[in-house]
Amino acid sequence: LEAETKAVVAQFDYTNEDVNKAVKEFIRQMGEGLEKEGTSLSQIPTYVTGVPKGTEKGLYMAVDLGGTNFRVCSINLNGDTTFNLTFSKVAIPRELMVAKSAKELFAFLAKQIELFLKEHHGDQFEKHVRRRMTVTSPEGFKDEEVFRLGFTFSFPVQQIGINKGKLIRWTKGFDIPDAVGKDVCALLQQEIDILHLPVKVAALVNDTVGTLMARSYTSPGKTGTVLGAIFGTGTNGAYVEKLANIKKPVTGEFDKSTGLMVVNTEWGSFDNQLNVLPNTKWDIELDKETPNPGIQMYEKRVSGMFLGEIVRLVIVDLLKKPEVSLFKDENSSTNDWKSTTSIAPNSGVFTQWGLDTSVMSVAAADTTPELVALRQALEEQLHIYSPSLDDAQTFKAIAAAVGRRAARLSAVAIAAIVLQSGTLTDPAYDGEEIDIGVDGSLVEHYPYFRDMIYEALGQIEGIGAEGAKRIRIGIAKDGSGVGAALIALVAADMEKRTS
Ligand code: BG6
Ligand code: GLC
Repeated sequence: LEAETKAVVAQFDYTNEDVNKAVKEFIRQMGEGLEKEGTSLSQIPTYVTGVPKGTEKGLYMAVDLGGTNFRVCSINLNGDTTFNLTFSKVAIPRELMVAKSAKELFAFLAKQIELFLKEHHGDQFEKHVRRRMTVTSPEGFKDEEVFRLGFTFSFPVQQIGINKGKLIRWTKGFDIPDAVGKDVCALLQQEIDILHLPVKVAALVNDTVGTLMARSYTSPGKTGTVLGAIFGTGTNGAYVEKLANIKKPVTGEFDKSTGLMVVNTEWGSFDNQLNVLPNTKWDIELDKETPNPGIQMYEKRVSGMFLGEIVRLVIVDLLKKPEVSLFKDENSSTNDWKSTTSIAPNSGVFTQWGLDTSVMSVAAADTTPELVALRQALEEQLHIYSPSLDDAQTFKAIAAAVGRRAARLSAVAIAAIVLQSGTLTDPAYDGEEIDIGVDGSLVEHYPYFRDMIYEALGQIEGIGAEGAKRIRIGIAKDGSGVGAALIALVAADMEKRTS
């Protein structure tokens, strides 16, 4: 590697010492978030007061608005830790992510629910829709005719009840100002009612909470699942906290008997003040160009939406340096830096978000001496003409440095929550595995992401090699749909008990 590349790669080192310092700061910021509002880590109480046992039963619906896709599903919980899932998935159109009004987005979501019901629950659909009633009107459907729906909404929401919550801010590139401060369940219910669908939004769930629930349902263990986390377009985690530790007021009705409540950390905004997060010139550049500068600073160093963009910014910098050979066109005689490269003008390398994190996955997966697969991906996905082996090696080194830093930062959050849970030292859990459910494109598709997390966990004070062995990080694939259904079930039970 050329000296310039080595210097860049070194800037992404995140040492064991850095990691340990960050874990302590993470725990401190968690405590702060449990005490008051307006902190970096929002630590949002979710009104979910226990995790499932695996015996829950019934037919429920769930919809899931993540950062990239919208999923609609119906779930039959069989009561024996298994379930049957029917689902449809559409990519969220880009223009709706930045729509003029919230109505446009929520009307689209309701329309997808209608299409799903027509296709998969046709009989009920026809029978009900012809009667043109709504769930919320007094003459509405009979209780047993209505699908209870869990709404997974993967953005920060101030919850005020199990099916009520106001949007705090958008993240992951969404930006629809008039939705901020509104109750997103009400917005969805209004659009469902306009279409006369027999569906009641019964629970509002963050994707991390859904993942935590789903993992607990499918792999119930002695300690239960301690943490549900997403490493995808964005990143976040939800964990089980003792009610007594939640010092800020939690108002409204909820079951206090378990002494526990699931907390949505919104850790994407961990350390927005940059006490411990690394901050290279490319991190600064990336942040400036986002719709939410200064916010989600941890997420912008960890999750899939941003890693490719960091790599792109580094590459653009190197391309501008005449002394660096990366992707250079030897026959070029101009001074314009773009024209001195062997990259097509329409390449994603030249546009914001143009380098998809999936190319980094190809780079990490290709361990052949000639890097054939990577060179092919550079050519096909990024329109770089005949990249040389040196080019590919440079790209691979930069991508690996950015990916490795992300994994080590991910270990910080996981470690902090495991330490906060006290389960590693609790004699009641002697020798038991500490279960963590994860989901998202990054942890699923980026090779060795989990291995790099484990490597860092082993270096953390209070965990060490022995502790890391006891931590089981398992995928809860498409978990949040099932999780949302489980919470809708709990909510429906609660409704029956209080009515
Ligand atoms: C999905 C979950 O599997 O993963 C969603 O169902 C979640 O709720 C998503 O938001 C996260 O991954 P990505 O990569 O789509 O952001
Ligand atoms: C963003 C959202 C958060 C969500 C995460 C993963 O960080 O703010 O609510 O859980 O992405 O999808």
